[in-house]
Amino acid sequence: MTYSTLKKDSLAFSLLGAAQAIALVRDGAALPQALTQVFAQSAAPAPTRGAIQDIAYRTMRGIGRAETLLGNLASRPPEPTLLHCLLCAALCLLADVDDPAYENFTVVNQAVTAVSSDPQMAHAKGMVNAVLRRFLRERDALVAVAVKTPFGLWNYPVWWIDRMKAAYPQQWQAILTAGNTAPPLTLRVNRRKTSVAAYLETLASHAITARQIGPDAIRMDTAMPMAQIPGFEDGLASVQDAAAQLAAPLLDLQDGMRVLDACAAPGGKTCHILETAEVDLTALDNNPKRLQRITQNLQRLQLEAKLQLGDASVGSQGDDWWDGQLFDRILADVPCTASGIVRRHPDIRWLRRKTDTEQLATLSAKILDNLWQMLRPDGKLLLVTCSVWPQESEAQAVAFAARNNARRLPAPGQLLPTADAGQDHDGLFYALFQKC
Ligand SMILES: C[S@@+](CC[C@H](N)C(=O)[O-])C[C@H]1O[C@@H](n2cnc3c(N)ncnc32)[C@H](O)[C@@H]1O
Repeated sequence: MTYSTLKKDSLAFSLLGAAQAIALVRDGAALPQALTQVFAQSAAPAPTRGAIQDIAYRTMRGIGRAETLLGNLASRPPEPTLLHCLLCAALCLLADVDDPAYENFTVVNQAVTAVSSDPQMAHAKGMVNAVLRRFLRERDALVAVAVKTPFGLWNYPVWWIDRMKAAYPQQWQAILTAGNTAPPLTLRVNRRKTSVAAYLETLASHAITARQIGPDAIRMDTAMPMAQIPGFEDGLASVQDAAAQLAAPLLDLQDGMRVLDACAAPGGKTCHILETAEVDLTALDNNPKRLQRITQNLQRLQLEAKLQLGDASVGSQGDDWWDGQLFDRILADVPCTASGIVRRHPDIRWLRRKTDTEQLATLSAKILDNLWQMLRPDGKLLLVTCSVWPQESEAQAVAFAARNNARRLPAPGQLLPTADAGQDHDGLFYALFQKC
């Protein structure tokens, strides 16, 4: 693929970059990593990177409908894959009549320009022009046909839609809809350095409007890059969803406690715990790269924890990463399918396989049983997942309590992702246990 003939600030350049990222996701890459690769290869300047990212995220949210439309518009599947992805990205932009990012004619012209610039796709410029123009002429009728299929209507794999219906017969449509909305930017105010009221004033002095939606949580009215968040580098605030900010208060922390954050990276909840109380905290993760991200977050916020590389599913005999001393509190934010945070990570639905849930639930059960051995009598363990699949969440909690005779304490349980103004959070699950 060549970007060389395209202007770096053109929509053609951004469409091509987004198409390449989408093609990488189709090959199994996570979208953030795919975008990092595209940014490096294309040497896109910052504003263009923003445009590529925006188009790629929009496309991940709308690709079910785009592929359905394309199936009805093109006489045969477009080849190569990059061409297919570019057409899907252009169709997503043209189909979004509620929030159009570009003029229709610009999208069509620039898609043709992008295709013409690439020797592998140039043969298809006439087809791209014809398909996109026909879509614009017959948009309502074509969309009406596409949304007759669940895939074209909801933009999720069919197994995902079926499973959501079975798990939440009343709310499945609202949950799927919430997963297709762009998430708000939610911050956690660092109470060690400032207060919510004072930080809201700081924002107001920068003409930024926001409102409080939790004890430390504020929702920005408009999203912005992290680097532009006032006081971010000085550790006044961190980016964290409102639901994720429930973990630290639920742990019922007191100064001096020994706390284990067992699946800690990148450290969002680790840092919130340390902002909340003076505790002796061990942050464990089995992924060395992700562990580095905890270090970066701790440094920015000027907090301290013992970082430990290790496997949370082994070690309760004091023979691995654990020194054998019991913990007062354990946070088990276990690995899961992340089915509750698809609005922030719209690629997840396309990357997961149906069988992942069972595999991850089995691993998490092993982690939980192991961690339970490390908890002192009367101590508390908080299970967290960012999944809405009951197998990973409520069913997991029930089975764990039964296996270990654990006392269940009040906790929010399954938070369903919604996108209404008063209750905006991701789909996390919380269960709290006490050792008898
Ligand atoms: C849901 S994420 C944790 C998010 C984190 N608590 C936060 O709030 O920023 C799950 C983490 O578990 C880690 N993990 C997966 N399997 C693990 C294991 N067997 N032992 C320790 N960590 C594990 C992953 O590397 C990942 O960083």
